[in-house]
Amino acid sequence: MKKDSPAPTNHKELLDWVNETVQLCKPDSVYWCNGSEEEYASFCEDLVQKGTFIRLNPEKRPNSFACFSDPSDVARVEDRTYICSLRKEDAGPTNNWVTPKEMKATLRPLLDGCMKGRTMYVIPFSMGPVGSPLAHIGVQITDSEYVVVNMKIMTRMGSKVLDVLGTEGEYVKCMHTLGAPLAEGQADVKWPCNPTVKYIVHYPEERAIVSYGSGYGGNALLGKKCFALRIASTMARDEGWLAEHMLILGAESPQGEKTYIGAAFPSACGKTNFSMLIPPAEFEGWKITTVGDDIAWIKPREDGRLFAINPEAGYFGVAPGTNMKTNPNAMITIQSNTIFTNVAITPDGDVWWEGMTKEIPEGLTDWTGKPYDPTSGKPAAHANSRFTAPAYQNPVIDPNWEKPEGVRIRAFIFGGRRSTTVPLVYQAFNWNFGVYMASTMGSETTAAAFGEQGKVRRDPFAMLPFCGYHMADYFNHWLQLGRELQSPPRIFGVNWFRKDAEGNFLWPGFSDNMRVLKWVIDRVRGRVGAVESPIGWMPRYENMDWTGSDFSPEQFDEIMTIDREEWKRELLGHQELFERMYDQLPKEYLFMRQLLLSGLWRSPAKWHMEADEA
Ligand code: OXD
Ligand code: MN
Repeated sequence: MKKDSPAPTNHKELLDWVNETVQLCKPDSVYWCNGSEEEYASFCEDLVQKGTFIRLNPEKRPNSFACFSDPSDVARVEDRTYICSLRKEDAGPTNNWVTPKEMKATLRPLLDGCMKGRTMYVIPFSMGPVGSPLAHIGVQITDSEYVVVNMKIMTRMGSKVLDVLGTEGEYVKCMHTLGAPLAEGQADVKWPCNPTVKYIVHYPEERAIVSYGSGYGGNALLGKKCFALRIASTMARDEGWLAEHMLILGAESPQGEKTYIGAAFPSACGKTNFSMLIPPAEFEGWKITTVGDDIAWIKPREDGRLFAINPEAGYFGVAPGTNMKTNPNAMITIQSNTIFTNVAITPDGDVWWEGMTKEIPEGLTDWTGKPYDPTSGKPAAHANSRFTAPAYQNPVIDPNWEKPEGVRIRAFIFGGRRSTTVPLVYQAFNWNFGVYMASTMGSETTAAAFGEQGKVRRDPFAMLPFCGYHMADYFNHWLQLGRELQSPPRIFGVNWFRKDAEGNFLWPGFSDNMRVLKWVIDRVRGRVGAVESPIGWMPRYENMDWTGSDFSPEQFDEIMTIDREEWKRELLGHQELFERMYDQLPKEYLFMRQLLLSGLWRSPAKWHMEADEA
């Protein structure tokens, strides 16, 4: 626990808010974080002393720590997440809503004295490079040391942010508590949280967040999903820009031509892997660089071009499945200065998770802190175990990743997890069809336990859990932006997950995704052909670069086929989504769906490229 430190700011409104919060939460002391390396080291040491952090073997993982959360606190809690706009219609049908007044009345008694026995930390932070015209400032209040050290990695935090904020600057209020006050003399636990009561609350009009009861990830690191997506999406709507659940990558050709692309995939669909992709060996001279792996803030310039920044400074990545084959760059990024949450620990003080190596090491400690029994049928690392690592450690970090003005976006890619129907890649006919495609994207639920295997869960723009306002209003915002852009980025759909009749993946993925990316870049640059299919423009086999690949024209045909009946079902399936948000649905959507249907009507039962060309 830190001692009181004086407030290093003259921002009156901020001081008032901090004081009010002190009165309400009643912490034992208040500490303003300065964001220095020394401060980070001293917090980590405190966490080791407390038993929350385990210092990993300094030879294997220098300056790195592991910790285990409470088993009740392992993931984002979407059913406890609220958008408390003044009007219900503004939250829309996909968000939980109650009036701000009612929510405040519910939270007030919970917050009263919630930090007793603890220190309250004040963390000024910038989402985006400090002082960038695309960046925005937040101040997080928290009673969790774990949150402080994670915020240090995930954001730019500390005194330099207060300098930019000045005495009157605007900031987003991010209030967080574990909801676990300590009575006089009560010993703390390693992972304090409130095991039964959790609230993740957003007040879009006030640009404020209150998070109660959880210490984990997106529930507690409020810069990420709460601010950079839910609150920022409402700011973006009001101010004419975009806050998106997108990675940003740079692709450099052997000739040195650089193309930046934003790509949205639902959570846990490999965004981090794609943002750090290593091209196949035969793609000599091609290089992929990372601007961001999860969130993009994208603003139009006066001249109608779009520029993007990654508001984050670190990666909070899913550990399981990450290995030297699937993502060597991530493995190098997390070599040092990293915090691991809910992974397994090896006897020699290193980390392990399912998929890291084929062999399970002996003598593991599992994520619950117990000796691991490989015959138990349970995983050693939690499926949502994470690493928190500084972005600058990424060996393929883009040289412009901190450029205050951002990087120019030339294409958007949208993809879900679909075992049928959706081809490997296609280009939308135009911006509006692209927005329609992104609005209706979805993933198959894999939860066989629900008896619904194969049911498509629509996740518009991969933003379903993260849009801070009415989803259909968000669609309108995208359409409107397109009307204002000079030459809007081209929009593409991809599906790495299509399967054959036996259930085998048709596409090798990973490095081979570069082949798809290259076609996308060549399309954007206007130098490669495509065929008009019923749903958009598609590459012919010979339009893609197969150097070093044995993927045959027959395999390509299988992964690109448009099955008429499947697509009719797909388009009819959009109706369910549209009905949910009919009050604000763009009128264009009904026409676009009709147009797509009529295109299918004249197509053969199985549309292949040759058939159309004949
Ligand atoms: C994430 C998510 O953690 O999307 O990035 O859930
Ligand atoms: Mn995400």
